[in-house]
Amino acid sequence: MTEKRSVADFAVAGGSPQFSKIIPVGQLYFPSWDRYEAAMRDIFNRRYYTNHGPLLERLEARLEAFFGVRHAIAVTNATIGLIMIAKALFRSGKILVPGFTFVGTAQAISFAGLDPVFCDVDASTHHVTPESLDRAFEPDLRAILGVNLWGGAVDFGSIQHFAESKGIPVFYDSAHGIGSSIGGRRLGSFGLAEVFSFHATKVLGSTEGGCICTNDDDLAALLRNMRCGYGMGRIVEVPVTTNGRMSEAQAAIALMSLDDLDEHIARNQALAARYAAALSEVPGIELCEPSGVDFSNRQYLVCAVDEDTFGLSRDRLARLLKAENIYARRYFFPGVHRSVPYATQYPQYLDRLTTTDALCSKLIQLPIGALVTEEDIDAIGGVIRVASRHAHALQRYLT
Ligand SMILES: Cc1ncc(COP(=O)(O)O)c(C=O)c1O
Repeated sequence: MTEKRSVADFAVAGGSPQFSKIIPVGQLYFPSWDRYEAAMRDIFNRRYYTNHGPLLERLEARLEAFFGVRHAIAVTNATIGLIMIAKALFRSGKILVPGFTFVGTAQAISFAGLDPVFCDVDASTHHVTPESLDRAFEPDLRAILGVNLWGGAVDFGSIQHFAESKGIPVFYDSAHGIGSSIGGRRLGSFGLAEVFSFHATKVLGSTEGGCICTNDDDLAALLRNMRCGYGMGRIVEVPVTTNGRMSEAQAAIALMSLDDLDEHIARNQALAARYAAALSEVPGIELCEPSGVDFSNRQYLVCAVDEDTFGLSRDRLARLLKAENIYARRYFFPGVHRSVPYATQYPQYLDRLTTTDALCSKLIQLPIGALVTEEDIDAIGGVIRVASRHAHALQRYLT
């Protein structure tokens, strides 16, 4: 790994890539092979693959204690968890959701047969605020689906107050938020429910997976009965059932990941601090700190690229980094309101979400997690620093 000095050193201009192997954008924390093998042997010995087995039960009990909630309902992934909540609550109607989120947040609302109404977010926190919710508010809205981003969170108190003033519930997509906390209280028990993702790109990973947290006994009973065709727990009438079960193999990996969570978070925090140092003097690059929490899992490392000061647009920087085998992402380009099918289905939002549009054009997510070392981060910082210095000359390789 040698430092770039001139334009010719950049891979887009014919130089060697900074990394010989791809540096993926996030996480991929694996348990040790020995622990994995022992866990799988255990499952094989028991001949119990899925259907609410002993590992699933153990995981849910541990998650309830971890989050400090009455119910943690493990599911196949966060998207199905969001679909299940929306469907459990309403047969039809509109749900207010930010346009600045992963497309799955809004798609879950649509999949449940409901209609998303898109609102904007705050430019500095990237989260919804009472003002941004109010600007998009419609009288027939049934609920608010808030999104907690980057290991940070909305200002829960003010959002709860707003929802109560309108007489509707609020629930949260907390796919990014496991382990983050505010005033010593972990995400998981805010609003009517919160949904977490255990996807491989998350700081707690079970390959695929997720869980729904709620303190509402009736909602929990509905969700446990909806999670598969034959239900679970107290029997209640449900609008529809699905298959959102988590397998024993997923539960085993989630349990190991939960054992390692403090270590993963500490590692991410160290990596984030290294990025802060590596990028501190790059003009036009601003590290986005997770807002609304006082302890963050640092699951995502997001920067804002100011094209005029940095010299290259965010998109060009992403292309330049990819050639160096640094896989950065343009989160959440192009914005959910501009994606299929919403851009044509609801064109009224195309000129309303100005902050979302601005964020979608300038934010970049840089690699963090298991496969990134502190030395890698120094090298990534070096590439970005030298790219800024030669931005003008690099333009022609990035058209
Ligand atoms: C904000 C947000 N919500 C939901 C999801 C979907 O999670 P899953 O892949 O577990 O369905 C993601 C995935 O990254 C996400 O970023």
